Amino acid sequence: MSRAVTGAAVVAGVVGAPVTHSLSPLIHNAWIAAAGLDAVYAPFAPPADGFSAFVQGLRGGAIRGLNVTVPFKLDACAYATDLSERARLAGAANAIKFEGARAYAENFDGLGLVNDIERNLGYRIEGKLILMLGAGGAARGAILPLLAEKPAALAIANRTPEKARALAEQFSACGDIVGMGYGDLAGAAPFDCVVNATSASLSGDMPSIPPTCFAGGCLAYEMVYGKGLTPFLRLARSAGAVRLADGVGMLVEQAAKAFAWWRGVRPDTAPVIERLTIPLN
Ligand code: ATR
Repeated sequence: MSRAVTGAAVVAGVVGAPVTHSLSPLIHNAWIAAAGLDAVYAPFAPPADGFSAFVQGLRGGAIRGLNVTVPFKLDACAYATDLSERARLAGAANAIKFEGARAYAENFDGLGLVNDIERNLGYRIEGKLILMLGAGGAARGAILPLLAEKPAALAIANRTPEKARALAEQFSACGDIVGMGYGDLAGAAPFDCVVNATSASLSGDMPSIPPTCFAGGCLAYEMVYGKGLTPFLRLARSAGAVRLADGVGMLVEQAAKAFAWWRGVRPDTAPVIERLTIPLN
């Protein structure tokens, strides 16, 4: 039997367009129910040019915070009164918390990735050679949290090499980072962990990378979730990667960060990850 939400319920939600496919309501409402909170998490889909007016309309009531997804991550940065270092450097926010007149913006995507790799997959990034494919918003948000784990080096490779080089330049003070094109990977040493942060898998495509970039025993991580064995994961497996993961753990871990930020309780991520995981075979 579903619980009724009272007028005093604390509200949070995800803002996106489209948003109906979002798993965030399922994830957050499962944690709300588990914690017995008088709260609700809802999907919101304002018009493409109406983020700020829409969010302003929600303010002043019981709204505690919002997750923000495509295409509003830049609008969320512009709307916020205070940006975390992660959101500022990523140039995008995926969570907002309201406190009085302030609106704090955060970017938990990269932390979600690192938490999934380190905690759930039991893989230590420290000292490893990491390759990240892509130089868009998803890659940008992951750089700072990845460098914080002190990899031996982080290489960013992209179809448009200049974008990867510009990102590496921007983050050069934060760790050992280099940018390149896919063509440069042919002569590079194999990587211990390869993260696909491109959106290629959404269209069943993949970055044109050589199989030699996967070291034996490599972890191959696909940020896209719910697509099963994508062309990238297929290539990784045939090239000898022994550990394959998709982004469902990252999704749930970033959600957990937002939940704890708004509600002061860290939820149990394992049951939700298990429920949403589609076997990779
Ligand atoms: P997101 O916010 O999901 O990162 P984005 O900012 O549009 O989305 O960036 C998409 C990334 O996926 C880019 O790195 C893009 O490469 P380019 O910068 O060269 O455009 C990459 N990408 C998208 N489709 C791709 C494909 N079919 N092959 C290789 N890279 C692809």
